[in-house]
Amino acid sequence: MPNLPLVGTRALVTGGAVRIGRELCLALGRAGAEVVVHFRTSQDEASRVAADPAHVRAVTVQADLGDPDQVAELIPRAAAALGKPIDLLVNNASVYDPPGARTSTSPDPDLNRRVNVLAPESLARAMAAALPAEAAGCVVNLGDSRVITWPREADSAYARSKLELHGLTRRLALELAPRVRVNELALGSVLPPVTVEGTDYEHVKRNQIPTGRHDTPAEVAHALLFLAANPAITGQTVYIDGGRHLTGPVKE
Ligand SMILES: NC(=O)c1ccc[n+]([C@@H]2O[C@H](COP(=O)([O-])OP(=O)(O)OC[C@H]3O[C@@H](n4cnc5c(N)ncnc54)[C@H](OP(=O)(O)O)[C@@H]3O)[C@@H](O)[C@H]2O)c1
Repeated sequence: MPNLPLVGTRALVTGGAVRIGRELCLALGRAGAEVVVHFRTSQDEASRVAADPAHVRAVTVQADLGDPDQVAELIPRAAAALGKPIDLLVNNASVYDPPGARTSTSPDPDLNRRVNVLAPESLARAMAAALPAEAAGCVVNLGDSRVITWPREADSAYARSKLELHGLTRRLALELAPRVRVNELALGSVLPPVTVEGTDYEHVKRNQIPTGRHDTPAEVAHALLFLAANPAITGQTVYIDGGRHLTGPVKE
């Protein structure tokens, strides 16, 4: 029997059907966790992730995280789907803006904040409140390493939301201690945003990433497992960005 560090863990990964979220679900499954693969529109992909032999056990749950009523129901629904309380929440689902997008041009200017900040906060609080007495929990928020420069140049609803999520991580780490740890993975350049067609990330790699390479979903998953398994770490932001946060304001 291999050493599976997360046996007994019940994880909910939002936006777990595709891209980085998919890799996080599979890595958690390989580590022995039971996994709820949340999706909004990617139902077929979510079913394929849940059916992957990497998992001990995995199920899917659909919800629109832009709808506060659906957010309020997600932790109980996920727990019911597994038959046990959730004790690892991975806030991965996200809405992205094209670079430079202004809230004034958005048809729903509050959507980024609802999905990227308010939903993660509500889900974290709901998970903490539903934990059995004496049980420990863990939250990992997927952030953006440009939070380092955005205090000077945040010019989109996405940027503002990830900046707020960065602060929320540390605030919740204090508020939910000692039973629930809250950490952040701040990503750099892993996969080009699906909403920005034809994005050429080569210029980002050449000019802004000290390691000179894009990071991989597997590297993000490796850091998630580290945070999930280490009871000493809370309120921490781990930059998975090849040093991109060191290179100053980003021009795209
Ligand atoms: N990609 C990168 O290089 C990069 C860089 C910096 C930070 N990050 C962060 O890392 C995380 C994963 O990145 P990613 O690029 O894989 O994410 P993504 O593809 O932009 O989005 C992940 C999922 O979020 C879900 N989602 C969007 N709106 C939703 C809503 N209203 N309700 C519920 N779910 C919703 C979608 O699920 P469905 O497909 O089911 O609709 C989508 O597949 C995100 O938090 C992102 O901000 C990524």
